[in-house]
Amino acid sequence: MRDESAPAAEDAQRDGLVAHRYRLLAELGRGGMGVVWRARDEVLDREVAVKEMLMPGGRSEAERSATARRAVREARSAARLSHPGVVKVFDVVVEDARPWVVMELVRGRSLQEAIRRDGPLPPGRAARIGLELLGALGAAHAVGILHRDVKPGNVLLDEATGRAVLTDFGIAVIEGEATLTQNGGVLGSPAYIAPERMRGGRARPESDLWALGATLYAAVEGRAPFHREDPVAVFGAVLTEEPDPPVRAGPLRPVLDGLLHKDPARRMGAGTAEALLIVAGGNGPDPTWPVPGRSAGPATAAPARPPTAPAAAPATVPAAAAWRAGGVLFYVGTALLVAGALVALLMMS
Ligand SMILES: Nc1ncnc2c1ncn2[C@@H]1O[C@H](COP(=O)(O)OP(=O)(O)OP(=O)(O)O)[C@@H](O)[C@H]1O
Ligand SMILES: [Mg+2]
Repeated sequence: MRDESAPAAEDAQRDGLVAHRYRLLAELGRGGMGVVWRARDEVLDREVAVKEMLMPGGRSEAERSATARRAVREARSAARLSHPGVVKVFDVVVEDARPWVVMELVRGRSLQEAIRRDGPLPPGRAARIGLELLGALGAAHAVGILHRDVKPGNVLLDEATGRAVLTDFGIAVIEGEATLTQNGGVLGSPAYIAPERMRGGRARPESDLWALGATLYAAVEGRAPFHREDPVAVFGAVLTEEPDPPVRAGPLRPVLDGLLHKDPARRMGAGTAEALLIVAGGNGPDPTWPVPGRSAGPATAAPARPPTAPAAAPATVPAAAAWRAGGVLFYVGTALLVAGALVALLMMS
């Protein structure tokens, strides 16, 4: 019997294609549960990324097909999201008894890779990445979709635009079956999982915000906030200890402290985080990337199912409101100055 946990590229390529359509070209990377390929969609003649989700060995046929069905359901839900900060899901197919998720190909590297290669990011750059991720999460939360696995490995940095894009929306639900529960062991790193989830509670929008805080902490410090050699020790630290005080965070410190609050009810909300990230980012947010509390912008998603968690509109905090009011005054002032100069020029000519 073939090892179900080994990549099935050769199997799937019996006709050279996955689902008679996607030609695997090269491996882009691999994580705990799968291999991501650069591939060509032969029908639409474009390059895509294909995530081959490996099924852990020792599973029954029924368990494997249940996981595959769940993968299709989750990918369908993620495919409803359309936002510049979210990797688009194009298709999901089940072949060789495993799900293959076909998605937008982001050329660049993950934040994890960037930290590993170049070391910690300056706080201003991390803050701007944080704003983009917050925008993507806000769009998803507004239609009841949770990410569940925000971490540096799931943040892709588009090399053409410099934009941060979130991948693997909802896929953690499928992976979680294996990573958190299989054989009672812990396979994945729990470093980015919120304490309320570790206690067995349901994922909620606040849990994604915790993971965002942990991701930004890792971006500036070069390691996760509760980094320990042993995953079980990470569990203990997330539940009971405070993160090691960041030493490189600078203006990002308040937002890290707020997002890494253990009590989800008292954790910093998206609106406050937005205001603080704008300040820490050093300049205004790009208006084409909507963030919670701002107008909906290009984010769209059909609310085909009830939200899995209350999709409360994130509060807009006074600081953010003041920042925006200041921005409006600035533009009005600039317009008046330009108009005045034009009138003066006309009178002189
Ligand atoms: N849509 C994509 N476009 C381009 N590269 C991608 C895409 N999705 C993933 N990758 C690359 O593939 C690598 C592996 O992704 P994968 O999701 O398998 O692992 P991970 O996120 O690091 O860990 P985990 O399995 O725990 O999610 C990523 O780090 C990234 O470099
Ligand atoms: Mg991933």
